Amino acid sequence: MPTPGRRALPGSLRSSGGLGYGHIIAGKRRFPVHLGGSMASTVLVLNGPNLNLLGMREPDVYGTETLDEIQARVEARAGELGVTADFRQSNAEGDLIEWIQEAQGTADGIILNAAAFTHSSVAIADAVEAVGLPVIEVHLSNVFRRERFRHHSHLSRVARGVIVGLGGDGYVLAVEAMASILPRKG
Ligand code: DQA
Repeated sequence: MPTPGRRALPGSLRSSGGLGYGHIIAGKRRFPVHLGGSMASTVLVLNGPNLNLLGMREPDVYGTETLDEIQARVEARAGELGVTADFRQSNAEGDLIEWIQEAQGTADGIILNAAAFTHSSVAIADAVEAVGLPVIEVHLSNVFRRERFRHHSHLSRVARGVIVGLGGDGYVLAVEAMASILPRKG
């Protein structure tokens, strides 16, 4: 039942995991809404450019696990820990910045593999600093064993912790670390 006097927003209502918060999607904008129910912590898991190609992209560097498979492992572990994982990927820097900004008020922490933007984006680091949520930076490969330009991260300075070189396991470890960082709700 719509509230009298309030115009319903066009768009769809989507839960980001069934607990706590969802979004009303109206055009290109997402509006966070509280759906009621138990207040599990929500962790946003953000993936940057070319990570959609995992599985076929340089398997000697990144392994053969696909991003969908990593997502399934993250969601399973998050479920065991009573955390809601909201897993996303984009090749666009602006999407990552929008999602980080939206996380303020809708999520409790962020696991971030910004991929190549790690080494170039002051704007993503600024967004992380602005929202003030705990961020764990993850890289599948050990960036310190690779080219010199990958040794510098704009994000590590604003991250709570950094996990590199453990493939998809790094994401699962980040979920476990985040679950112990975040205060228990409810
Ligand atoms: C990466 C490392 C980055 O240097 C690279 O640009 C990526 C993936 C990793 O997960 O190992 O795209 O973030």
